[in-house]
Amino acid sequence: MSITIKTAADIAAMREACRLASEVLDYIAPHIQPGITTLEIDRLGAECMARQGTRSATVGYQPPGYPPYPASLCTSVNHVVCHGIPNDKPLKKGDIVNVDVTVITQDGWYGDSSRMYLIGECSVAAKRLCALTYEAMWHGILQVKPGAKLGDIGHAIQKFAESHGLSVVREFCGHGIGKNFHEEPQVLHYGRPGTLEELKPGMIFTIEPMLNVGRREIKELGNDGWTIITKDRSLSAQWEHTVLVTPTGYEVLTLSAGYPALPDFVHATTT
Ligand code: MF3
Ligand code: CO
Ligand code: CO
Repeated sequence: MSITIKTAADIAAMREACRLASEVLDYIAPHIQPGITTLEIDRLGAECMARQGTRSATVGYQPPGYPPYPASLCTSVNHVVCHGIPNDKPLKKGDIVNVDVTVITQDGWYGDSSRMYLIGECSVAAKRLCALTYEAMWHGILQVKPGAKLGDIGHAIQKFAESHGLSVVREFCGHGIGKNFHEEPQVLHYGRPGTLEELKPGMIFTIEPMLNVGRREIKELGNDGWTIITKDRSLSAQWEHTVLVTPTGYEVLTLSAGYPALPDFVHATTT
């Protein structure tokens, strides 16, 4: 397997898949309030996908060595790094939750995106982590253009994160995406500039950094085969966009109204 280059028709189909993934995140946003359970968020997501005519890519998803994933989306709360399974525990003021949605369109294309939601008023540390992780993702996105290397993306994210005292989770990465959920390449969120694969127009992959307030080490929660937590139980945050390499730079395919404003440094470099 190698990195697929998407045709104009493929790109049009991916724009739609990615729009639909973000639409699910927009749809659930007003409901994410103190007292809602992550299982209720999962039901809202499933309802939105049913109305769209998409399917969840995560229900029944089973990579080698894993049990089938049991829900329509992932909900990772506080010290959960990723792959949190929705449950019946109500969210409370001060919690932070990542919701990660991957849809499959009727034509079989995948769109993948995730966001942080803050539950009521959160601690300064939690707000700072979520904001800086969002900025870290965008520092990675800004590297995307033909001729750049995958290592440039990882380096930009790592440099920014560590300069703010945050650590980068190493065990999970972004990924190529298209007619498969996870394709080549792996998109590491750390690394050295000028290394790894060269980016070419028509590549589509996700950038989805997971940053921790404390140490970067993770472990399995241990009872469900999926949930990953920080080893030191410190807070962790993640944002995810699906990005196309264009002839001149990048196009974020999962942008929608519900995302926070683009960081100032993004406007500064694109105008
Ligand atoms: N959506 C996640 C990603 O960004 C993968 C979730 S796999 C699951 O790659 F099975 F845990 F849902
Ligand atoms: Co995802
Ligand atoms: Co992804």
